[in-house]
Amino acid sequence: MTIDRSALAERAQGMIDALASISAEPGRLTRLYLSEEHKAAARLVSEWMRDAGLTVRMDAAGSVRGTLPAGRSAQTTERRLLIGSHIDTVVDGGRFDGTLGVIAGILAVENLRARGVALPFGLEVIAFGDEEGVRFPKTLIGSSTVAGILDTTALDTVDADGVTMSEALRAFGGDPHALDDEAYASDDVLGYLEVHIEQGPVLEQAGKPLGAVSAIASQGRYRITIIGEAGHAGTVPMAVRHDALAAAAEVILAIEAAATKRSADSCVATVGALQVSPGASNVIPGAATFSLDLRAATDESRTTAAAEVRDYLRDVGHRRGVKVSMDAVHEKPVATCAPRLGKAIGGAIERVTGAPPVTMMSGAGHDGQAMVSLTEIGMMFVRCRGGISHNPLEFVEPDDMGVAVLALSETVRTLADDSGQG
Ligand code: GLV
Ligand code: MN
Ligand code: MN
Repeated sequence: MTIDRSALAERAQGMIDALASISAEPGRLTRLYLSEEHKAAARLVSEWMRDAGLTVRMDAAGSVRGTLPAGRSAQTTERRLLIGSHIDTVVDGGRFDGTLGVIAGILAVENLRARGVALPFGLEVIAFGDEEGVRFPKTLIGSSTVAGILDTTALDTVDADGVTMSEALRAFGGDPHALDDEAYASDDVLGYLEVHIEQGPVLEQAGKPLGAVSAIASQGRYRITIIGEAGHAGTVPMAVRHDALAAAAEVILAIEAAATKRSADSCVATVGALQVSPGASNVIPGAATFSLDLRAATDESRTTAAAEVRDYLRDVGHRRGVKVSMDAVHEKPVATCAPRLGKAIGGAIERVTGAPPVTMMSGAGHDGQAMVSLTEIGMMFVRCRGGISHNPLEFVEPDDMGVAVLALSETVRTLADDSGQG
């Protein structure tokens, strides 16, 4: 198993490096949905999938999908086990977020085939094109398409250059009119597995390379707009101003407080983007628009925090004489991992690492949040250095990647044995 593992670690590292070289910006890793770089990454992933023995196609939403038929002659099923993650990145992101899951899926297929394991069900490895929701203000486009829950109003959203998702999708080679045809029926799938870097410090602190995920946190993204009155910075007395940015500052501190007081529920809130208009040093801000990303271990905690922010915003509006609005752009309830898949993942981790698995909640969002509408989901986390992610310093030890591939292969093998068909 040791030789196997170091060879897999080396393969995974080479693939991570190859994908990391495909970026829109020299010296930083930025690969957005439906960009030229996404296309180049999709081509490379397609080649790897073909080499692993998968039959590959690009679907209408730009996801790369590689299938393997059931391998056992008797007692097989046409139903498929899905394995996936994403190949888009945030701006100046890390090289492992998403890509590791796709690479692990491909290498697990390769590993199973090399060991002569014939499965009683089909497999599909999927490289989703949009999980991050950076280019357009919508997330999980690829996985929502496969799960059959895509809200097609997403197609009308625009990027920073005014290009609609629909236009970008056509230019990419996708088909906005064929998205419905890409969805699976629940009866045709056996579950969804995803390997992902932890993006937090728990595994490193526990001294374990892998963990089993119990659930993905409740998540909401909102756009908050405050309209005040622009004016001369030198002449308008403080008492009569309607400064949109000062109002926003108050609201942002209230957001921080709303999450902090719910820390027992792992509630976290982030204002990561802020636009001020007109944006000049001698003009009182007339408008401020900012993002809010709010997450918690329970739906109740997340929705009550959002309601509290909404009330506070309204109050600031009255007190300061500014117009306010708060629109939800993305909302997902807690996505619970299926005990059946968690057990298979936990058992595989224990057999491969020799120690019982750590089980943890995911604060980060994942494609499983969409896939859970279609089928049962299971996730495996891989230790990353310092828990750092969405950052170029993101780092995973090659050996941990090798272990992850082995544990994923072992999970698939366990599910094959458990299916009672082989
Ligand atoms: C995706 O990485 C998210 O958690 O926002
Ligand atoms: Mn990710
Ligand atoms: Mn991410």
